[in-house]
Amino acid sequence: MRHKTIHKKALFIDEFVDKFNQIRKRKNFPYKAVGTIIKLLFQKSEFLGKGAFKNVYYISSRKKDLVLKLSKKKYLKNDMKVYNKIPKSIRNRYHAKIYWHTKYCLIQKWGNQNKISKRDKRLINLKNKLKPYDLIDIRPANVGFVDGKLKVLDALIKKKRKK
Ligand SMILES: Nc1ncnc2c1ncn2[C@@H]1O[C@H](COP(=O)(O)OP(=O)(O)O)[C@@H](O)[C@H]1O
Ligand SMILES: [Mg+2]
Repeated sequence: MRHKTIHKKALFIDEFVDKFNQIRKRKNFPYKAVGTIIKLLFQKSEFLGKGAFKNVYYISSRKKDLVLKLSKKKYLKNDMKVYNKIPKSIRNRYHAKIYWHTKYCLIQKWGNQNKISKRDKRLINLKNKLKPYDLIDIRPANVGFVDGKLKVLDALIKKKRKK
């Protein structure tokens, strides 16, 4: 497994979340409390942002730029579904590499989100490339440059309409 030390920390975060909620008799995801733990566990971590489902932190490991995505189990599972919808041979060409995930943590390559416009040809091209796999929601907030190439950081699967 890649990034073993990070994996150990992720398992610790998982345990923390479950124990914390058990003690408090709550079910909401304790984003704020975990944010504090992340600062303690990862020296150079930085909060990058949040979307509708996840909180995302920059972390680094031996000069590699990574992100830690924090969310409920079902949303990370959904992310894996998205990732695995892209054929293996082209997966990491169009989608920022996901190394692994635990119950509440997912580790992905960091993408540079500087200056991406809605009409950028590279974004339109990326969208088209992923259309055959029913991936949607590929917009500036969900893409970034990984090793100089624009890639998906987050997407959704198009729901089929019921007839
Ligand atoms: N791999 C990444 N590299 C850099 N920033 C990221 C990465 N993944 C997500 N982000 C940032 O965090 C935000 C939320 O992450 P995202 O995966 O889109 O979660 P959500 O499912 O909540 O939309 C993104 O809009 C983006 O700004
Ligand atoms: Mg998103």
